[in-house]
Amino acid sequence: MINQLISEETKRIISSVKSKDDVNSTLDNEISTEIGQAELNDIFRTTHAHFLLDLIYIYLKEKHVADIEEVMGLYFFANKNYQRHPIISCIDIDKIPQYCEYLHIAFLNSKIAIQGGKLVRQKSKEHLIELGAVYTKESIAYDIVKNTIDNLGQFDSGISILDFACGTGRFYEAIIKALVSKGFEKETAVLNNAYALDIDKEALNITRLKALSFLDEITLEKINILSKKIILKNGLVRYNILDPQKEALDYKDFEGHVKSGFDAIVSNPPYLVLKANKSKAGLSDAKNIAQMVSYFKKSNFYKYSIEGMLNLYQLSIESMLAMLKNKGELGVICPSTLFADLSATKLRKHLLTSNKIRSIKFYAEKSSLFENVSQATNIFSLQKGDTTNTISITKDNSSFTVNLKDVRTLFPSNYEVPGISNKEWNILIKLSSCNKLKNLSTIRNKRGELDLTLYKKFITKSTTPFRLVRGNMIGNNSIKDLNGEYVTEDFIKTRSKEYLSHDFQKTRLICQQISNSDCPRRLKFVFCESSDILANSCNYLSGDSETLKKLYILLNSSLLNWRFKITSSNNHINNYELDELPVVDLNMINGNLSFSSQKELDSYIGKLYGLTDEEIMLTAI
Ligand SMILES: C[S@@+](CC[C@H](N)C(=O)[O-])C[C@H]1O[C@@H](n2cnc3c(N)ncnc32)[C@H](O)[C@@H]1O
Repeated sequence: MINQLISEETKRIISSVKSKDDVNSTLDNEISTEIGQAELNDIFRTTHAHFLLDLIYIYLKEKHVADIEEVMGLYFFANKNYQRHPIISCIDIDKIPQYCEYLHIAFLNSKIAIQGGKLVRQKSKEHLIELGAVYTKESIAYDIVKNTIDNLGQFDSGISILDFACGTGRFYEAIIKALVSKGFEKETAVLNNAYALDIDKEALNITRLKALSFLDEITLEKINILSKKIILKNGLVRYNILDPQKEALDYKDFEGHVKSGFDAIVSNPPYLVLKANKSKAGLSDAKNIAQMVSYFKKSNFYKYSIEGMLNLYQLSIESMLAMLKNKGELGVICPSTLFADLSATKLRKHLLTSNKIRSIKFYAEKSSLFENVSQATNIFSLQKGDTTNTISITKDNSSFTVNLKDVRTLFPSNYEVPGISNKEWNILIKLSSCNKLKNLSTIRNKRGELDLTLYKKFITKSTTPFRLVRGNMIGNNSIKDLNGEYVTEDFIKTRSKEYLSHDFQKTRLICQQISNSDCPRRLKFVFCESSDILANSCNYLSGDSETLKKLYILLNSSLLNWRFKITSSNNHINNYELDELPVVDLNMINGNLSFSSQKELDSYIGKLYGLTDEEIMLTAI
């Protein structure tokens, strides 16, 4: 049936586009008029919205709802001009809410385009990315909701639970199911306890329809109650009389629960990096993004999620926290960058120190938690207020406990909680007693001196005494002469005294500044020639030759590569990240060690750090 519905919807879109066509071609999907993609997108959205409304209308009619027109206008976001086309016969009425959901997912995952003069519906993630709309599998939504409600312990019949950014209401349905399993009447839970919001009209219509499908009888009185509980609002914007914004959330919304009123909130919030994409229209259109960023930074509402490049999921978490009662419970699925990324540091510290993070479950990118999208993800649960003591971590189906004390000791600057196994945490703890690279007073850890953009004019193809070394020339064991570039002597005059006395004409230990985060071996250190000039696509360590020889051995080991990867969440190798690497007592290292394989080196280094054979294997590249 769903395929029939999709093809019916597609037929309607094509006929709508063709109604603008000058020539009446005989072929069904042939088109001769010039029509832009933006207009096609508009027609697609409008036709899809009307098609859903047609289905909703049929549902209400078959359920013998009185005053259907009033209900459509009052409760569903129905454009008055929607047409009630007859729909395919033999439709199972009780399945209409589900069909509407499938249709909306199909809409989010496709677009209408013109190919070879013909209109076609093709797969596309454009809508999905624009709306940040990836829906959660029902079983996962239910687990999150159940766990969140269980964390509340005792609660009374007045409990309030919000599905924030509900989409088609997967969490909303799970709230009803979970409350029913706790002895609530389905209808009572719908009318008294469950709340939802989203900014996508069509998705919200579907959540509202689902809510109606849980009622024994649909009446205007109940519709009035539900229209205050499932609302079309921007969950990230608060109403401000001085700067009123469309769909801003008002403190009077949700019967006054917006300000710290909910007992529990569950969500798969939108994920969108607020980075202007000039080629796109819609949510990520450059002007739109700039306006959003400016609002979030200036609103005085957000304190923890406005550092660096903004991301909607971090703002959503801060917004949800503000809607939660003290001691209220939060259950969220979001990107695992929350517990690793530098840009999430302020929010992460707030979650860990001013709230009680109860549990984090990590899922690798390949776990396919969502249809059509792969993303390293985590599910965390939190109690508002209080502070974190121990966190229950689940990774690869095994669970263990991590103390916040250990997080503070291991990652004192940014409080990362990496998605690693229990055994890996134990290795980290073993490494924690070591000095850090930044504490080696004789070593300088810097970025290459020649900025390839700023100092381009000093680069030449004519031979000079100074070879230019770019990051891409750094191989596994040596520098490869790939580019045949040199640096003119004038460049040396632009350098600081400090550089000239410590780094210039010195043999340095160098690595790439950019290395793909998926690459198994990210740290590759080699020695450069003393006369080499390093581009800023390299990092270098300079200092006395004995220490550098020892660091060469250490930094090429699998162990330090493993440690580096734990907290590196992007494709850069930053000096501040190298600074954090644990350095064993250098007196223990034989700088003249010769080794014939990586395994031999790893075994030598692993033993110096007190690792067992199993631990050495675990960290091997
Ligand atoms: C990742 S989807 C999740 C949907 C649903 N919670 C689920 O898991 O199936 C995120 C949802 O956030 C909605 N959304 C995006 N920005 C929003 C905002 N500012 N306020 C409310 N909802 C928003 C999108 O329309 C989309 O439905």
